Amino acid sequence: MSEVCGSDGVELTATHGVTLQRFVLNSMLTNGFVVRDNDTGALAIVDPGDRIDDLARAAEEWGGDVRWILVTHCHPDHCAGVGQIVARVGGEVVGPPAGPYRVDRPVSGGEALDFGARSILVSATPGHTADSVSYQIDEHIFVGDFLFRLCSGRTDGEDASTTELFDTVREVFDDLPDDTILWCGHGPPSTVGEEKAANPFWRVALSETHPAPVGEVRYRGKPVPVLAWAEDYDGGRKALLHLPDGSNVIVPGSQVAG
Ligand SMILES: [Fe+2]
Repeated sequence: MSEVCGSDGVELTATHGVTLQRFVLNSMLTNGFVVRDNDTGALAIVDPGDRIDDLARAAEEWGGDVRWILVTHCHPDHCAGVGQIVARVGGEVVGPPAGPYRVDRPVSGGEALDFGARSILVSATPGHTADSVSYQIDEHIFVGDFLFRLCSGRTDGEDASTTELFDTVREVFDDLPDDTILWCGHGPPSTVGEEKAANPFWRVALSETHPAPVGEVRYRGKPVPVLAWAEDYDGGRKALLHLPDGSNVIVPGSQVAG
């Protein structure tokens, strides 16, 4: 993998079959991507939440053959620009069916999309939201907010589930090659090997035994044990909490006290 860090929050990465640009879209450091199949010039755009002009210009500079607009999950910072990007460069919209945008190809995992000389494989990766999906093109997987490097998306949303997130770590990611590249919804990319070795939450997910608490905090007015802490992409950290009802939740450090 070669990387060139450019100006304006744009990073270019190339492997033998695929070249991609990662755009940092906003102050929350949400990522959007333009992906090219190097053999045919087919393009896909992932999570056009903002910077639509920049994403469109990059696609046009790469020949403009946009086949797919891929949405990982329905939070606005990932999909608010879907209508605008389609109006600019075309492409069929792929994503969870409940999105606030017109979906041409609703997906829930298990689908394969033609992408020039390659395929885009869709996996269900619930956790941060119930209908989150990830898109795999060769060794690249766009995972949305399922993962932040050595951390995680939060799971305290209405339809979020730490149990589903941990099941997905075991059932989808544990068997992938270590050098599989994981493109996160916010912050820098990672690899399966790095995450399995050093993600504090994945360690809990992949452990055979129930983890011992590493501390205690107050959450929603009650003392609760912390099972793991992880450093986040924005300089903060997240906590994995074990709640009185027996469930686990991943929350930003700002949500807990003490
Ligand atoms: Fe999100």
